[in-house]
Amino acid sequence: MISIKNLLTSEELFKDDIYEIVDLANEIIKSPLDFSHMCEGKILGTLFFEPSTRTRLSFESAMIRLGGSVVGFSDANVSSSTKGESLQDTVRTVSQYADIIAMRHPQEGAAYLASLTADCPIINAGDGGHQHPTQTLTDVLTISQYKDSLENHTIGLVGDLKYGRTVHSLLKVMNLFDNNNFILISPEELKLPQYVKEDVFKDKQNYIETTNLDEVMDKVDILYMTRIQKERFFSMSQYTRLKDSYILDKAKLKRAKEYMIIMHPLPRVNEIATEVDKDPRAVYFNQVKYGMYIRMALIVKLLEANNA
Ligand code: CP
Repeated sequence: MISIKNLLTSEELFKDDIYEIVDLANEIIKSPLDFSHMCEGKILGTLFFEPSTRTRLSFESAMIRLGGSVVGFSDANVSSSTKGESLQDTVRTVSQYADIIAMRHPQEGAAYLASLTADCPIINAGDGGHQHPTQTLTDVLTISQYKDSLENHTIGLVGDLKYGRTVHSLLKVMNLFDNNNFILISPEELKLPQYVKEDVFKDKQNYIETTNLDEVMDKVDILYMTRIQKERFFSMSQYTRLKDSYILDKAKLKRAKEYMIIMHPLPRVNEIATEVDKDPRAVYFNQVKYGMYIRMALIVKLLEANNA
């Protein structure tokens, strides 16, 4: 049984929990029909105060494939938050209907706040620029599908490392596994924040920082591309200047290892040319599918932990 009752941040995930969730996801991938009644009679609430394609629809598909049902909203403007209802009251209300809630919110710490008043488990589906722990589980499952283990990798993270919540969560989790090293590739203005560095690398300084992707391409085993996050910028002129800082194309990949994998949490804008999609190293659309399987496993594990 996993040690957590909610999933609010990646800090809560211990190695044993991660292996347990990933192992169950692998069982589901092998025999999905064996799990198709697992959540019969259970309801997932999806409260999305921010736009989403993958996270919301993968959660909803996950619950439906487990035999459960879904209620919720994908636009806060159709909820009573427009009448001034507090987040805590909204969540407390929905937790009277639902057995488990996945919530995305623009405010950092919103999932934690929700967990204080909810009468059911809360899953953070992204809180502002803070964290996106189910994307991290998706990424970990994806890595485990293409690499022999979760250890001994050089992981290059590219793009918006300042606002990219998927990056903050992934660094924290992949640094739990032995002998991983990180190359942080970003424009100066979008470097990994100091507070994240101090937290993730407090015990070992196993990272380098650079602005130059070409210079490190041949060293990388896992290339994690990210979008420059327009919605988090205060200045549109700065966004316009930085938005095309890194564009991965066939020419750039000539220097990459044969068995490197290219990941991206998606959505992408310009940072990976579509010509790369056919490269066998490009795994980002398979990553999308693994996102559904890992969320199936997470729902099952959290419901189990809360009913123990
Ligand atoms: N990766 C991800 O979080 O995608 P969405 O914003 O579409 O949910």
